[in-house]
Amino acid sequence: MKLAALFEQRQSVRRYQDRPVEEALLHQLVEAVRLAPSASNSQPWRLVLVTEPELREKVARATFSRLVSFNRFVLQAPVLVVMTLERPKLITQIGGRLKDRDFPLIDIGIAAEHLCLQAAELGLGSCMLGWFDEPRVKQLLRIPVRTRVGLMVALGYPPEGYPLRKKVRKSAAEIAAFNRY
Ligand SMILES: Cc1cc2nc3c(=O)[nH]c(=O)nc-3n(C[C@H](O)[C@H](O)[C@H](O)COP(=O)(O)O)c2cc1C
Repeated sequence: MKLAALFEQRQSVRRYQDRPVEEALLHQLVEAVRLAPSASNSQPWRLVLVTEPELREKVARATFSRLVSFNRFVLQAPVLVVMTLERPKLITQIGGRLKDRDFPLIDIGIAAEHLCLQAAELGLGSCMLGWFDEPRVKQLLRIPVRTRVGLMVALGYPPEGYPLRKKVRKSAAEIAAFNRY
């Protein structure tokens, strides 16, 4: 698919078919992340692909509560990808401290978008999730105490006819300028 078309097609999908995602496709998604750029090529991420139904339900339940329920749809997703932030190279750590930049967080965002664009190309729907009970997710997936979860992504086949509802975006004039801010 042409990249511009893929940008149009990728959207946050919040309903999924009750249908597993083929393992070969999951490997393709991992490959998309593997090839993502990162500061000093640190690749400061690991992915935990949660597919076991019982475990997945528990992890999904860690993304919403009765009070804050907008992520309830995550229960439908047949795959949850949990992206952890791993220690970057020493040079990136030093550079990040000197320049006050959180490079791994930038990196993981890029990696997540690689994953979501690849998912869209494969006909899968995805939704990045920044709202979750991190200690609970870590406990469920046996993620080391010092390791942080950066982002989660819900994945699955959208229902037939799921509408393409690209959210309104700011105009080009609002977000870009030539030569001066
Ligand atoms: C870092 C990040 C965190 C997000 N967290 C959530 C979330 O917890 N729940 C949710 O439904 N959508 C979440 N989203 C999806 C955004 O709401 C969505 O990308 C945005 O509204 C634009 O819509 P689109 O993805 O359909 O183009 C998140 C997106 C990003 C990039």
